[in-house]
Parts: sequence; C-alpha cells; structure tokens
Amino acid sequence: MSALNTWKREMNVLILGARGMLGHDLAAVFPGARLCGHQDLEITDEAAVRAYILAAKPDLVINAAAYTDVDGCEDNPGTAFAVNGEAPGYIAAACREVGARLVHYSTDYVFDGSTTEYVESDEPNPINVYGASKLRGEQNIAKNTDDYLIIRTSWLFGRHGKNFVDTIRHLSRTNETVRVVTDQVGKPTYTVDLARKTAEIASYPPGIYHLTNEGVCSWYEFARAFAPNVIPCTSAEFPRKAKRPAYSVLVNTKTSPLRHWKEALEEYLNTTVNVP
Ligand SMILES: NC(=O)c1ccc[n+]([C@@H]2O[C@H](COP(=O)([O-])OP(=O)(O)OC[C@H]3O[C@@H](n4cnc5c(N)ncnc54)[C@H](OP(=O)(O)O)[C@@H]3O)[C@@H](O)[C@H]2O)c1
Repeated sequence: MSALNTWKREMNVLILGARGMLGHDLAAVFPGARLCGHQDLEITDEAAVRAYILAAKPDLVINAAAYTDVDGCEDNPGTAFAVNGEAPGYIAAACREVGARLVHYSTDYVFDGSTTEYVESDEPNPINVYGASKLRGEQNIAKNTDDYLIIRTSWLFGRHGKNFVDTIRHLSRTNETVRVVTDQVGKPTYTVDLARKTAEIASYPPGIYHLTNEGVCSWYEFARAFAPNVIPCTSAEFPRKAKRPAYSVLVNTKTSPLRHWKEALEEYLNTTVNVP
C-alpha cells in the first residue's frame, strides 16, 4: 500500500455499491473492507440504512451506490431522486450517529456546461434529472453530517461495468463506422485511478473535491484514441433523452493531479480482454 494513503488499515471500512464499476475497484484498494451490494441493502430504505450502518459500526463509509443511467433518470425521476438524492442523506445521518466519515461520489453533470471549466466552489446548475438528483444528494449529505468528502468525477471507465470504451469498441467491431459526438467535452476517468486516489485522500479535510484523470477531450476524441472507424457528429444529430452539458470539465484544485487519461486508457486496454 502506498505511504501516501491517508486511511489506516485498522480502520473499519464499509463500501456501499461495492458491486458496481467503481465499487469493485474500491474493494481492491481497501482490503478488509465490508462490501455491501444492492442485494445486501436497499439504500432508499431509511430504516434499513440506519440499522445496517449502526450494526457495522464503520469508521469510514464509502458510498459508490447510485442510479447512474442518465437517460433512464429522465424516465424514472422518482427512482433517481430516491437513490441519488434522498438515500445519501440517510447514509450521512447514520454516519453521523456512529461517528463515521462519509465518502460519496457525485458528478460533473451537476453543472450546466455553459462555461469553460469548474472548480469545487462553483455554483452547480444541473440540466438533467440525473444531475439534479445527484446535486440533491450532495445537499442532503451536507445537511446531515459535517464529516464528509464529496468527490465529483466524470466519464468513468473501468473493468466492472458498462462503459463508453467497451460500448464503442463493440460498435467499432460490428459496424463500418461509428458516429460519436464532438460537442460534448469532459475528462475521462479510470475507476482504478479514482479508487486509489480515494484511499489517498480519505482523511483529507471535509468538503467537495473534483477528481478526474488529467486531459480534456470530446467523446469523439476519446473514441478516436482506441477505435479507428469513428466519425464525428453533433449532439443534434445524435439526440438522447437527457440533455448533456457541453463543457463539463472539472478542475481539481485540492489534491495532486491524477495521470493523463491516455495513459490510464492504455493500461485499461492492455488489461481487458477484447470485447466481442
Ligand atoms: N459512470 C460514470 O460515468 C460516472 C460519472 C460521474 C460520476 N459517477 C458517480 O460515481 C459513482 C459510481 O458510479 P459507477 O459508474 O461505478 O456506478 P454503477 O456501476 O452503476 O454502480 C452503482 C451500484 O449502485 C447499486 N445501486 C443502485 N441502486 C441502488 C439502491 N437503490 N440500493 C443499493 N444499491 C443500489 C447498483 O446495483 P444494481 O446494479 O444491482 O442496481 C450498482 O451496483 C456514482 O455515485 C456515480 O453517480 C459515475
């Protein structure tokens, strides 16, 4: 384990959403953590959350559980706000009761993307249900505990979940060309790097952190880095249910930077089997 890590091995760590894409990689960097998946705990059940956390008596709770289907959130706003908005408040209240710190993940989609880049103190203004529900979650955490880290991140890819890299790799193999949008710009982030950085900053002062891999690109530029037959298009040519911010670039002003996304992507491609 890196000497940089600020969590201690003897800490009692509980990971919620442990079977999701980020959750899997968190489990690897927090050995000995108690792993809790959806089948173990329904985080929208306030009483169940309280009972689970009180029984587990953690020092540190890491919440990677969320409803992450951005277009699905438009169809199911009730679920989006229950899982992403209210549940983090229940988790925060239970953490306060047992004296645990809460580390929680939020998103670049809390911003509207109308400006060039966002630092941690910038005012959110979500333009879709997912972003609004995640912002509600941030607010409910701050209402219920002082001892939290909210880590906003973006464009995650990792071995253990549905992600853009695998989707485009598959489409690239099965189609002559693949259209990818040029007018949405952000920062791709490897879940392994995010999980490791989480361990490093787990004992940092409370507050909001922006953590992404370095490097800014459009989805098209990202896809070009690993698929030969992608062609650019605009969001207007490729309509989706949820509006996406045009320029959702998170700037990390509080911790040392992560490596460039191109380096992280290379490692990811070298360690994943080819998708069919
Ligand atoms: N993916 C991205 O590009 C991205 C970008 C920015 C921020 N984030 C944030 O990063 C965090 C991790 O994202 P991820 O991509 O790793 O998510 P993920 O792969 O979708 O995993 C989320 C996990 O949460 C669980 N879950 C959903 N609803 C639940 C409920 N009601 N009770 C208990 N568990 C529930 C899911 O279980 P089931 O599948 O069984 O429902 C799943 O295992 C989230 O907070 C997300 O908002 C993600």
